[in-house]
Amino acid sequence: MSKVFDYAEVGKHNTADSCWVVLYGKVYDVTDFIAEHPGGSKVILQLAGTDATEEYDPIHPPGILEESLKPEQHLGTVDPDTLPSTEKSPAEMGAAEDDGPVDLDSILNIDEIEEVATKNISKKAWAYYYSAGDDLTSKKLNNTVYRQILLRPRVFVDCTRCDTSTSFIGNKVKLPIYVSPAAMARLAHPDGEWGIAQACEQYGAMQVISQNASMTPEQIVADAKGGQVFGWQLYVQNERAKSEAMLARMKKLPAIKFICLTLDAPVPGKREDDERSKNVGANLPVRAAVQEDASVSKTSTDAKTPSPPKNMGVGQSLFWGTAADLTWKTTLPWLAQHTDLPIVLKGIQTHEDAYLASLHAPQVKAIILSNHGGRALDTAPPAVHTLLEIRKYCPEVFDRIEVWVDGGIKRGTDVVKALCLGAKGVGIGRAALFGLGAGGKEGVARVLEILKAETETCMRLLGVERVDQLGLHHINTRAVERDVYDGPAALERPSLTSRLMAKL
Ligand code: LAC
Repeated sequence: MSKVFDYAEVGKHNTADSCWVVLYGKVYDVTDFIAEHPGGSKVILQLAGTDATEEYDPIHPPGILEESLKPEQHLGTVDPDTLPSTEKSPAEMGAAEDDGPVDLDSILNIDEIEEVATKNISKKAWAYYYSAGDDLTSKKLNNTVYRQILLRPRVFVDCTRCDTSTSFIGNKVKLPIYVSPAAMARLAHPDGEWGIAQACEQYGAMQVISQNASMTPEQIVADAKGGQVFGWQLYVQNERAKSEAMLARMKKLPAIKFICLTLDAPVPGKREDDERSKNVGANLPVRAAVQEDASVSKTSTDAKTPSPPKNMGVGQSLFWGTAADLTWKTTLPWLAQHTDLPIVLKGIQTHEDAYLASLHAPQVKAIILSNHGGRALDTAPPAVHTLLEIRKYCPEVFDRIEVWVDGGIKRGTDVVKALCLGAKGVGIGRAALFGLGAGGKEGVARVLEILKAETETCMRLLGVERVDQLGLHHINTRAVERDVYDGPAALERPSLTSRLMAKL
């Protein structure tokens, strides 16, 4: 029988010489783990001698504890009667006082979803989701640039019918809107990424699972219905074996149709809201869904892996271990050795890179024009600018690969404008997370319901029945064009001879 400890006894082990924590009612001696802790010793010591479950749980998918600690480090259980009361005031919960449950149907738009979620979720969750690089310039422009584009409605057209269905690299979906790989969904609500999957199923939408999801990919797709489409986001790790092990896991999940290789954030941007939230839990080391495979050495380190910074926000702790040495030349061939799945390159921000990506078809089947929700390099261009750049300098990209966009989508009119510019689909990140915060899986469903209805209204008022009918003639982009890159084209178009040779 396992030993039962009084919580007061656990509390005595609160130093680097003897450090115990309670997780899920179990008592662990983590003294030896302090030095191995990817996020540094400080965070563990801040929780030493306490019940750390609340900080630990929302950002750690199952499996990490078992893999990180030896069986003998599990000392026993804590006597629940000795635990301090966990009842919290609504203010402590981050929830609005006296507000009661929110009627989701009364929420009319994505900004209102964010308002409700902001009241419901913890400060740490809000700071992580809301934050973006430096002065949030790109984050704001991602959204406002859509307002600068005007629509050109045609009238006297039968608009009784409206069909939002489309396909993403050959996979049928009912919406041109997909959920982007946004991390740590359980910070917002216990439904987490699984809840997002449920909502996506309801609306026939695609979901790209974050590498830093707070649940395992297996849990997220567990209840997926036939025909439901998922991608999986890869942040290549310094320890390549970890990424290779994850790619091998994806092969066993038929619902995962592609690998979304993220290129826009080899290092995180400076996210001051996140850093400022200074929540002890924010420093927890979450290699999240990487969930070290037992076969991969946990002690092996890489010379390229720097020591973690002293005070990390959630974002920085997630990026710890991410490889910054990816290149066109080395990474795609390496990926080809480890997966047969199509590759979607996320984070393209110039026409030059869009063009280069298109030269890697058919391995690369799509690109996502993204500045990472403004969370990486502040003042990087919004996807709308990159779409216009590609149209101007190398429109052939649209014929070779699919182009998707994300960042700033808050209205159906935003979705339609992106499609008019040539995007095949648009991703929503924060909107899905705030949807969870507003009402769990039903909140995400409400987000999709709102955006779908707004998209349909926009299409109808433009006189368009199907998404493939949307085109440049439906929009006026003059106000944006002034700001779009206008410099020299640095494209090295392969000669006809070399293209013919490549085909041989
Ligand atoms: C972020 C990462 C983890 O933006 O994608 O926080």
